[in-house]
This record gives sequence, structure tokens and C-alpha cells, in this order.
Amino acid sequence: MSADDPQKIHTVTLIPGDGIGPEVSSAVVRILEATGVKFEWERYAAGADAFAQHGEYVPKELYASIEKTKLALKGPVTTPIGGGFSSINVTLRKAFELYVNFRPIKNLPGLETRYPGIDLIIVRENTEGEYVGLEHEVVPGVMTSLKVITEKGSTRIAKWAFEYARKHGRRKIHAIHKANIMKMSDGLFLKCARAIAKGYPEITYGEHIIDNTCMQLVTNPYQYDTLLLPNLYGDIVSDLCAAFVGGLGLVPGANIGADAAIFEAVHGSAPDIAGKDIANPTAMLQSAILLLHHINETDAADKAQAALELVYGEKRSLTRDVGGTSGTSAFADAMVKAIEEVKL
Ligand code: NAI
Repeated sequence: MSADDPQKIHTVTLIPGDGIGPEVSSAVVRILEATGVKFEWERYAAGADAFAQHGEYVPKELYASIEKTKLALKGPVTTPIGGGFSSINVTLRKAFELYVNFRPIKNLPGLETRYPGIDLIIVRENTEGEYVGLEHEVVPGVMTSLKVITEKGSTRIAKWAFEYARKHGRRKIHAIHKANIMKMSDGLFLKCARAIAKGYPEITYGEHIIDNTCMQLVTNPYQYDTLLLPNLYGDIVSDLCAAFVGGLGLVPGANIGADAAIFEAVHGSAPDIAGKDIANPTAMLQSAILLLHHINETDAADKAQAALELVYGEKRSLTRDVGGTSGTSAFADAMVKAIEEVKL
């Protein structure tokens, strides 16, 4: 419990999502409540489910809830390719100016991976670049898509990355770009990162081109510490780096703005495994642990983290994607039991 107010009840907007979302969300809610922290959940559908219920993809009540709570835990939501509606994630990130997409990539004990001992931080700009959604048809057969990079957006994300690095003792930051081709847009991103880097002499600053970065990551990921990326490159590199530590079922994420934060896993709604009680809730759980840190429930966060390491270290009730045979709910049972066992 938080040291300042043991009775505090945290009101959090909960978007269970669709596909595997409801399964992993209910597992994570059970685990969070087992830590002893008191939550009041404001539950809302988003995407196709919300449209079926309310005639809106992002219901007004959902916006109002996040405006009030400033905090959400979100499961994945399916975004149809082509027609349909725009990504709910992109919509929420823009609406609440959640300009930071923070993705720590770290191994869990007991999981054999190609690269042990990975400890990478990915800081992705979350509101600009190719994801502004400005696309149009010039003439039939010719489409354009605008990439928007601003000085304000690039400066604030660079500042956040360097501040995070300073606060958490990180050694170096690489800004990732394609400024050799996109000289003005990625060029501006780099110019802003360089300007901010000057204020943090204790942190080594480097720059790598995105295609080379992908090769370097796969060849020797240990050379990197913190990656600072524009939106699209960050999205792609996050999935690549998730594979270093065991895949999309494990890696957490946080969307952070000046006034609100939404915590969600890197993975999507995984329609191929939805409704079968086989999805791994670890990624959403690790996102929820970031949420506990964000609300200063440090003891509960440490307890959940220790329990997670115990469950993985002893290979208790792991799901199939990480070599186990258990289901989503059995993993949640094992986590609840482990939380009771761990002593900090
Ligand atoms: P995906 O992440 O849903 O699935 C990719 C692969 O990883 C699949 O084989 C899936 O079974 C596996 N996987 C993902 N999460 C897993 C978990 N927790 N446990 C075990 N295996 C897991 O990516 P995909 O198929 O490209 O996207 C499906 C839908 O999700 C799309 O509509 C996409 O737009 C949406 N999406 C939503 C996101 C969000 O709401 N944050 C993020 C990414 C995609």
C-alpha cells in the first residue's frame, strides 16, 4: 500500500478491449486486487463492441471517465484494415496528448531466449509522424500519406527520454532516424534530440539510421541502452525487441502525457487465440505494474514483480507461448498464490 494513505482507493478507467482483451484484463484485475491495493474500476468498451452498444467507437462516457481519472488500463482493441474506423489507440493517444510511448524490454527469469540479460528502454513519440492519419487520394490510383514531425513534439519526447534516463541511471540514448532520406522531417527530430542532449552531459548520445538499427539490434542488442524513436519506427522496433525477451505476450507499455496515462500491452487483440483461455496475460500485467509505480503504489508493484519472477523462475502455470501448458486463468491463479507467498 502507499505509505502516504493506506486507505486510498484508486479510480481507474478499465477498457477490457476485444479479442483476447477481456481474458487478459480479467486475469490482471484479479492479480492487481490480490496485491491489497484498492481499486474502483470504471469499465468501458471501445471499438466495434462500443459501436454495437452505443453507436460510437469511442463513447463520450469513456473520454469523460479518462478526463476524470487521468488513468486507464487498456486491453487490446481490433482495428480493421482498410475501411471501418480509425485506430482506437491512436484516437485516445491524440485526444489526451499521450506523447510518450514507453516500453521497457527486460528478460524474465526461467525463460530461455536467444539473448539473455536484455535491458532496453524504448521511448517512442506517440502522437505525430505517419500516424497523424492525414491520408488522401490525389487521383484514383495515387494515394498520399502525410508524415508530420514538429519541433514541439520532437523536443518534448527527447526531453522526456533524457529525464527518464537521468532519473533511472541509464547510460546512453540513441536517436533512431532516416534523416539521410527524410532530411527535413527526421532531420528536425534529430536536431531537437541533439539540442536536448547537450543538457545531459552524463548521458552518451548517439544516432543510428533505422535500417542499420534493425541489423545492429539483431546482431548485438547489448550495444543499446535507451532508444528514442519517431512514431512509426518505434512501433516496429518495439515488436522486434519484444521477441528478444520471449514475444508479444510479455512486453508492457505505457502511453504517458502531461495530464493522463494509459497503460497497455504492446500486443494486439490476437484473434487467432481469442476466447480459448490460452492468451498470456503477462504483458498486460507488466503494464499494470507500471501503472502501480505511476500511482506510487511501490510496495504493491514490487510484490507483483517479485511474484511474477517467482512464477516464471519456477515455471509455475506458464502459458503456451512461453513453453508452458497452462491457460490464462490458471496463470492468474498461480500469480495470486505467489503474491501471498512473496516477502519483500
Ligand atoms: P497481435 O499482437 O494481436 O498478434 C500477433 C501474434 O502474437 C499472434 O500470433 C498472437 O496470437 C500472438 N499474441 C499476441 N498477444 C499474445 C498474448 N498475450 N499471448 C499469447 N500470444 C499472443 O497482432 P496482429 O494479429 O497484427 O493484430 C490483431 C489486431 O490487434 C489488429 O486489429 C490490430 O490492429 C490490433 N492491435 C491492437 C493493439 C492495441 O489495441 N494496443 C496493438 C496492436 C494491434
